[in-house]
Amino acid sequence: MRVLWLTNDLPPRAGGIQQFVGNLLDRVHPDDTLVVGPAGDDEAAAHDARQRYRTVRLPGPVFPTPRTLRSTLTVGRSHRPDVVVLGASWPLGELAGRLGDGLGVPVVSLSHGLEAGLPGVGLGRLVRRATRDLAALTTISDWTEDRLRPHVAAPRLVRVPPGVDEERFTPDVDGGRLRERWGVPPDAPLVGCVSRLVPRKGQDRLVRLWPRVRAAHPDAWLVVVGEGPLASRLARAAADAGGRQAGIVLAGRAPWEDLPACYAALDVFAMPCRTRLAGTDVEGLGIVYLEAQACGVPVVAGDSGGAPEAVRPGETGTVVDGRDDDAIVAAIDGWLADDRGRADAGAVGRAWVERQWSWTAIAERFARLLDDVVGA
Ligand code: GDD
Repeated sequence: MRVLWLTNDLPPRAGGIQQFVGNLLDRVHPDDTLVVGPAGDDEAAAHDARQRYRTVRLPGPVFPTPRTLRSTLTVGRSHRPDVVVLGASWPLGELAGRLGDGLGVPVVSLSHGLEAGLPGVGLGRLVRRATRDLAALTTISDWTEDRLRPHVAAPRLVRVPPGVDEERFTPDVDGGRLRERWGVPPDAPLVGCVSRLVPRKGQDRLVRLWPRVRAAHPDAWLVVVGEGPLASRLARAAADAGGRQAGIVLAGRAPWEDLPACYAALDVFAMPCRTRLAGTDVEGLGIVYLEAQACGVPVVAGDSGGAPEAVRPGETGTVVDGRDDDAIVAAIDGWLADDRGRADAGAVGRAWVERQWSWTAIAERFARLLDDVVGA
């Protein structure tokens, strides 16, 4: 099976779609895959050179422009694919018809949170247009699928959620090295968030509310890992809340190889995400919750979109209203105060991820979908 991917989201840039696409690329016909992706720097070139699949980077972002179409058709013709895969259906699905016709093959697309937010603000027609020329569309959660289904024009809707590499993300990873780098004492209770720094994820509330958590747990620390547009506002909020003196560390972006240790260093993972912008800025699922649970860490999740589906409330974590300060503080406080509960939740979470969110099974499902659309 020869596969041509077109995607604006590709490692080494950090993010859920990047992580999702990168994991599928590693596992589904990597030796026969060509990726057309966004412009990259030296780090991207080094990353691309290490992969089994070949990557061609366009001069800028991958938007559905005539130029993207021309370049993709040119490299696509020399690759001779059996199928084209789009990393996200909106807006790239706009090119599906012309790509499929130009290369004479079916086009399949992944979907994420953004597409599912569109119908809620009266933009279901954009979903219809972007899916009308697809052979199949994948969905990541019940929540996104329920919202997309009435608007999807593609004949097939198939669940392919993002997963976790359960061999990399394990409770056995040593997080001590990261605690040392962050300047957090080895035995201090540690709450953390790993995510892009954007308002939806709720790091602003974690930082602002931290003094309230610390009032009950004077030795506890908070680490916020990631980079993004909220960085300078968070730095100001952290300083207002007392900075390092108050046990707050803003750690910046973590290299990919350090991610498992970032989670393993924590006692509680907290990302109280909240839906914004009339429902268009919404959590489709939340890989970070799965990564934390794979490392045996209980999670505090927000109730945005499909995020509650990435937790087993009461068993592996707590789902809170991401706008309810008292609920966020109470959830973190509850887990910090309960050593036994954390250990139990960690074990249940790890087993659940192994059973339900392993990349191996998810990638097989995706490979079968490609077989089906090519054979159809
Ligand atoms: N290397 C690195 N460094 N990775 C990071 C960093 C960092 O500093 N910060 C976050 N990440 C990684 C996380 O480890 C995780 O794998 C991913 O980026 C974030 O994933 P999500 O929590 O899923 O968030 P998203 O908003 O970027 O992703 C969107 O698409 C996902 C896939 O469909 C959302 O819609 C998610 O809900 C959805 O799961």
